[in-house]
Formats: sequence, C-alpha cells, structure tokens
Amino acid sequence: MQHLLSTVKLTKPQIMQYINMAKQFKDQNTFHCLLKNKTIVNLFYEPSTRTSCSFHKAMLQLGGSVINVTDKYSSVEKGETLEDTIKTLSLYGDAIVLRHPLIGASLRAAAVASVPIINAGDGAGEHPSQALLDIFTIQTELMKYGLDINEENREPIVVTFMGDLKNSRTIHSLIHVLCLFPGISFLFVNPPGLEMPSSITDKLSQLNIAFSQEQTLEVALKTTDVLYVTRIQKERFLNPADYETIVINTVNKEMLKNAKEKMIIMHPLPRLTEIDVDVDNDIRAVYFEQVKNGVYMRMAILAQLLL
Ligand code: NCD
Repeated sequence: MQHLLSTVKLTKPQIMQYINMAKQFKDQNTFHCLLKNKTIVNLFYEPSTRTSCSFHKAMLQLGGSVINVTDKYSSVEKGETLEDTIKTLSLYGDAIVLRHPLIGASLRAAAVASVPIINAGDGAGEHPSQALLDIFTIQTELMKYGLDINEENREPIVVTFMGDLKNSRTIHSLIHVLCLFPGISFLFVNPPGLEMPSSITDKLSQLNIAFSQEQTLEVALKTTDVLYVTRIQKERFLNPADYETIVINTVNKEMLKNAKEKMIIMHPLPRLTEIDVDVDNDIRAVYFEQVKNGVYMRMAILAQLLL
C-alpha cells in the first residue's frame, strides 16, 4: 500500500509519471469510470477551499464517491484521537485525504491506517499534492516559453520564494521536488523571522544548489523566472501580536515592469494582500491555472494510489 505523505522521497521518474498522467487527464477533460465503486474520505481538521474541493471533483471525475468529514462535526469534537478516527474511516473509504494542524499527523495516521493516506497539509510541515500540481504548472507554463525544466542544457532557471518561508508547507514540499531538476537556483524574500527552515537550506548546500536571501523583491524580480508567493501563515503564530508586526510586501503591476517578460507568478492561494488583484490579468499570473491543474493532478494521484 502506497501513501503520499511527503515529497522528500519522491524520485524524478515518479514525478514525471504524475505530470504525464495529469497532462493526459487535462487533455481529455472528460469523465472516467476508473475509480467506480471506490470512495475517498476527505478528513479536514483545518479550513480548505481548493484542496478539499479539488480532491472531491477529481474523485467524481474518476467515477468514484466522496465522504466529507470535518473536525467540528465529527467525534473529534468529543475528544476522539486521530488514531481512532483514522481506524474508523479506513473502514468506510479506500483512501483518506487528511489535513491537520500538527506536523507529522499524516505519518501518525499512516501508522494505523489500512488504506492509503494522502497528506493534504500537516501544520507547517508538508503539502505534497500541492507541490505536484505546482511542478505540473511550472512544467507546462515554462514550456510555453520554450523552457523545458527537464532539459540538462537549457538556460538556468531562477525560482524566487516570497512570503512566509518558515511556515509555508506548500513551499517546503515544492522545494524538495525542484531539487531533483537540473539548473535551478533559488532566491528567498521574506520578512525577518520567517526564514526558510535550516533543514531545507542544509539540504540545498549539501546538493550544491545555489540559493540566496534577497532584501527586496524589486532586486529579485530582475532575474526571476518563477515567482512563488505565499501569505503569512497567521494560524502558525503562537503569539497573535507577533503576526500584527509583520510588514507584508505586495506584488503589483508597477513592480512587474522590472520583471522578465517570460516569467510566471504563482500562489497556492488563498491570497490576502501579497498580490494586487490588478496583477490577475497579467499574462504571467498563473495562480488560477494552478487551481485548474489541481483537479487533474489530484486525479493522477488518486488513480496512482487507488488502482
Ligand atoms: C495552502 C495551504 O493550505 O497550505 N493552501 C492550499 O492548499 N492551496 C496555502 C495557504 O493556506 O496559505
């Protein structure tokens, strides 16, 4: 039985297989009966719009069905342990999609589950299905500029991560995936105190992958091919007053005049003020394409784990 808990151990062939399968589903854009008679349980202990809805839509598009469970309206509210909840839901579903506020929750779930667990976000830890839809988006969007991320001898690619690099689980999962591709370097733009975890920067150093801190987005933008923005993760702050002190940079139209013509702007969403709505109609903004790609990638993940 295969789970999807983290991107750390994914190999490049596995990632390419996910991308190719998602691409096929996107090209066909039709209903299938591949997972007829199968059910997934969406178990969410934290709010979600895109992740829960896209897993739901993906499952319906594959002919399967979905049971939605939230902590507020389940026995979790009565104090049931995560382990007992997972053991129970394993009896109803063929896979469990789990979002939980604690790092490592999906690992705990996998230890007692009798069906595949898909980590849909464990606190500030990881969010592997988002990383897979992100790499799918990067691959297809850069291809439009003639840049193949898989190609050894192409131009180098600069990926800039901006926002809450300490707590953004989507960034943590994506950077492990990007490390597998040649010729990618990283720029980090973040408020003080929200730096990339040292476990990740240590890994980059060990792999000899270039990364550096930039003080301003304006400087970073000049060389950026992929700008990946995240919101400050308010719910991870132990002291709410600390969140209020954070100064947030906003990507706006004016700033983008200094960016490359052939680059892309990504965001896992939800967005607060870190990207101006004026940017949405810029051809380089692909965050709603990420939303769309999420369904096809989640179809690929479900097909991969359940067939
Ligand atoms: C992200 C998450 O939940 O980590 N959202 C998502 O799944 N698309 C990003 C966020 O909440 O900031």
